[in-house]
Parts: sequence; structure tokens; C-alpha cells
Amino acid sequence: MDLKLKDKVCIVTGATSGMGKSIATLFHAHGAKLVISGRNKERGNSLAKELAGAVFVSGDVSEPQYNALLVKTAMQHFGKLDIVSLNAGTLGLGNVVELSMEDWHKTVDVNLSAIFYMSKHAIPHLEKSNGTILINASIAAYKSFPNHPAYCASKAGAVALMKQLAVEYGPKVRVNAICPGPVDTPFIWDSAKAFAHPESAVEDAGKATLMKRLGTPEEVSKLALFLVSEDAAWITGTAMTIDGGILNA
Ligand SMILES: NC(=O)c1ccc[n+]([C@@H]2O[C@H](COP(=O)([O-])OP(=O)(O)OC[C@H]3O[C@@H](n4cnc5c(N)ncnc54)[C@H](O)[C@@H]3O)[C@@H](O)[C@H]2O)c1
Repeated sequence: MDLKLKDKVCIVTGATSGMGKSIATLFHAHGAKLVISGRNKERGNSLAKELAGAVFVSGDVSEPQYNALLVKTAMQHFGKLDIVSLNAGTLGLGNVVELSMEDWHKTVDVNLSAIFYMSKHAIPHLEKSNGTILINASIAAYKSFPNHPAYCASKAGAVALMKQLAVEYGPKVRVNAICPGPVDTPFIWDSAKAFAHPESAVEDAGKATLMKRLGTPEEVSKLALFLVSEDAAWITGTAMTIDGGILNA
């Protein structure tokens, strides 16, 4: 097997579930040395056992110091940092009138500010390694959904911040985003609660794509692998949709 990330040191957030877990697993299979981040200690420790050599650090990405700790852990354990894959995300459901101030701030902090916190600490090391950042944004950056105001705004912000980082830190550091459509993870079942018919919303989302089904975390992780690998050495400042064609439906 061609090990596309042999000895690359990689931080993966949101790694204990869904797309982040699939990304961590695929990166590990391609030879990456991992620092995995998540809030659930049981799932994190179990994944660290599964992915030999991976180091799990539990915490909340909306706390600036936790991002610093993830970077410090990569440096202490592996002596460098090559790749940052940011997947932690939250929804903050309810229309603007209903959504609490607390939920607005939490959603923006997790989906947007955490990218700033992580970049602040990681970029000095990524400049040395000619590394890369990959942000898991969403088609919500481009297409709005009812009852997701903080989510849509923060994901659009994540894409804008990605572009700004790419401008500021190229050519040393490549920065890209992926914008998934409806993918079969626990997240989409939570998101369904915001729609008029939650019981059918997930199935409806799959049917609304041109491919007539939900995406899988594994399909997304293959795109993530490509974008952080040397194969994508001339790709930066780009948000790639992987959405079964839903934006074009
Ligand atoms: N599933 C979809 O349809 C879909 C579509 C587009 C984009 N996304 C994005 O993909 C990313 C991954 O989501 P997923 O679908 O794999 O869902 P998921 O629920 O399986 O994973 C989300 C992860 O983020 C973690 N997380 C949430 N808040 C956190 C916090 N404060 N600190 C640390 N970790 C936190 C969760 O614990 C979980 O592990 C998210 O950013 C989400 O917005 C999902």
C-alpha cells in the first residue's frame, strides 16, 4: 500500500465520532502519527488503542488553551506538526428569535473561533514543516437551512477564515476546507430535529441529492486524505464540496 502520510504528524479534532473518526482511521492507515481530540474519554481512549501510537487528549475545542494543549502534545510526543484536520462541530438549533445567546456563542466558538485558536498555535509549526490545515465546513456555508442560524453563519465564517489563512500563510502552509452535504453520522440525526418533519428529514436529505442517498464518512475521509497529501500540493484556499450534488440539485 502507498502510505501517503508516512510519519506525518497530525492533529484530528472531532475524532471520536463520524467523519473525524473515519479521517483519523484512514490517516493512521496511511502512516500518520496522530494526536486525536474529542470530548468523550471512553471513545477517545478506545480509538487511541485501536490506532497504535495515537495520543488522545480530551477537551472542548471552544477553549483556547485546549487548542494550545493539542499542539503542545504533538510537539512533545512527535517533535513536529504537519497536518491539522478540524472536524469538531455543533449545531445550535432554533431560529434567531428562539436561539439563546449562550447557544449562539457556543456554536460560533466551536465552529469558527476554534479554527482561529488552533491556527494561532499550530501555524508557527506548520510553517516549519510546510504543513497543511483542512477545515471540515459544510454546504451550510452556501445553502441555508431553517433553524440553523448560528450553524450557517459560523460555517460561512469558517470558509472565509480558511481563505484568509491561505492568503496569509502561503506558500509555506496550505489551507483548505471540505464542505460536505448530508453525511450519515450522528450529527445529521440531531440536525433533523430542526426540520418540520424530523422523522423523515434525514431520508429526505439523502433523496434531495443527485446521487439519491446520504454520503458516508469514509467517502469524505478519502477526499480529506487527498487534500492533506502531497497529491494536492498545488491546492490551497479552496472549499471543496462533497455533497452528492445537492448544491446543484
Ligand atoms: N453529518 C453531516 O451531514 C455534515 C454535513 C456537513 C458538515 N458536517 C460537519 O462535519 C463535522 C463532523 O461532524 P460529523 O457529521 O462527523 O458528526 P459527529 O457528531 O459524528 O462528530 C462531531 C464531533 O464534534 C465533536 N464536538 C462537538 N462539539 C465539540 C466541542 N465543543 N469540543 C470538542 N469536540 C466537539 C463531537 O463530540 C463529535 O465527536 C462537523 O464540523 C459538522 O459540522 C457534517
